Amino acid sequence: MMDSRIPQVFKDAINGALGPVMHLWQDPTVTEILINGPNEVFVERKGKLERTDAQFPSEDILLAAINSIAGSIGRRINWEEPRLDARLPDGSRIHAVIPPCATNGPTVSIRKFTQSKITFKDYIKLGAITPDAANFLEICMFLGKNILVSGGTGSGKTTLLGLLCNRIPKGQRIIVIEDAKELTIEYEHVVRFETRTPNEQGKFEVTIKDLLKSSLRLRPDRIIVGEVRSSEAFDLVQAMNTGHNGSMGTIHANTAADALVRLEALAMGGETKISDKAMQYSIAAAIDLVIQISRLQDGSRRIMSISEVRGLDEDYNYDVVNIYDMPHLVRGPDGKLHGHIEPTGELPSFMKEIEDNKIPFPRSKFFPPKSA
Ligand SMILES: Nc1ncnc2c1ncn2[C@@H]1O[C@H](COP(=O)(O)OP(=O)(O)OP(=O)(O)O)[C@@H](O)[C@H]1O
Ligand SMILES: [Mg+2]
Repeated sequence: MMDSRIPQVFKDAINGALGPVMHLWQDPTVTEILINGPNEVFVERKGKLERTDAQFPSEDILLAAINSIAGSIGRRINWEEPRLDARLPDGSRIHAVIPPCATNGPTVSIRKFTQSKITFKDYIKLGAITPDAANFLEICMFLGKNILVSGGTGSGKTTLLGLLCNRIPKGQRIIVIEDAKELTIEYEHVVRFETRTPNEQGKFEVTIKDLLKSSLRLRPDRIIVGEVRSSEAFDLVQAMNTGHNGSMGTIHANTAADALVRLEALAMGGETKISDKAMQYSIAAAIDLVIQISRLQDGSRRIMSISEVRGLDEDYNYDVVNIYDMPHLVRGPDGKLHGHIEPTGELPSFMKEIEDNKIPFPRSKFFPPKSA
């Protein structure tokens, strides 16, 4: 299952260490393995959590397993540094917290790397978006709108960002910056950067902010930031406001308005020289659209709204207008939630741009469906 470029030392560590959960590691329907101490192992399948029978013989053996995986990638986890956050050579991600900070015993989550390439077609089939809304997003990509993908943990932000990247029109130069290479992007001209964690002396760290600064000197057309989670928010906003149209990033937030407030807080965190108001203006000018995505109770992941940022109102609140939203979700007899996003009746402010480009997406597409 693991390809030949993956170092043997890592394969050995996984084979040796993960014995009790090896069947879960190898099971393609399992997307996440969650270990809460030696006696409790949960997995995620189709977006839903299930408890398994798997157990580690003792806390020490689980601890040794985590240590062996950390060691195989040149990292460590111990009393002094009881937390490990790393990408594994096969693209999976591991996060571990051990005692004394973890009171259940060594706690691990492994997000398995899935080769699954979700396409826009699959996305529609999965019910994550409607064909019209998907079409609208493609138009936004074509027109070079700056987009923020917002959602909770594991809601599908990275997947959606990847889908959008694959709709960038040909002939541009894209720079992608991530903590760990995750995005699947098929594009002819793409430069990829990955951050570096500091060494044991806390030195030689290279952050997203550093790489964003370099990117700006490398003639990008669009800059894509895998996850905006720190002061690089400021640099991304500046880039968006200085001609890098079509730049994008994901952010952790529960609503479109929260996403902007969070972006502002992150941007202010790194920059003391700019006033609150100036920052708000910059953000309102930079971000064109916020796509909100959620992991729902039935395990599905869906786009909940597509909103346009139109500026600031007189009280300096972001003027966020939903172009699409989810009017209702109804639970069916199968336990699944049924519903999809619908146009709200608001025309995007760039409707004329759509028409001037002769894009066959008429105004009527934005009219809400007649209520029955
Ligand atoms: N629309 C969807 N339907 C079903 N599964 C999906 C959908 N979108 C994403 N997934 C799956 O959900 C999991 C999490 O997706 P993804 O990594 O994109 O989320 P994320 O929000 O970026 O997570 P994180 O908060 O950890 O960065 C992946 O296994 C992915 O394949
Ligand atoms: Mg992500």
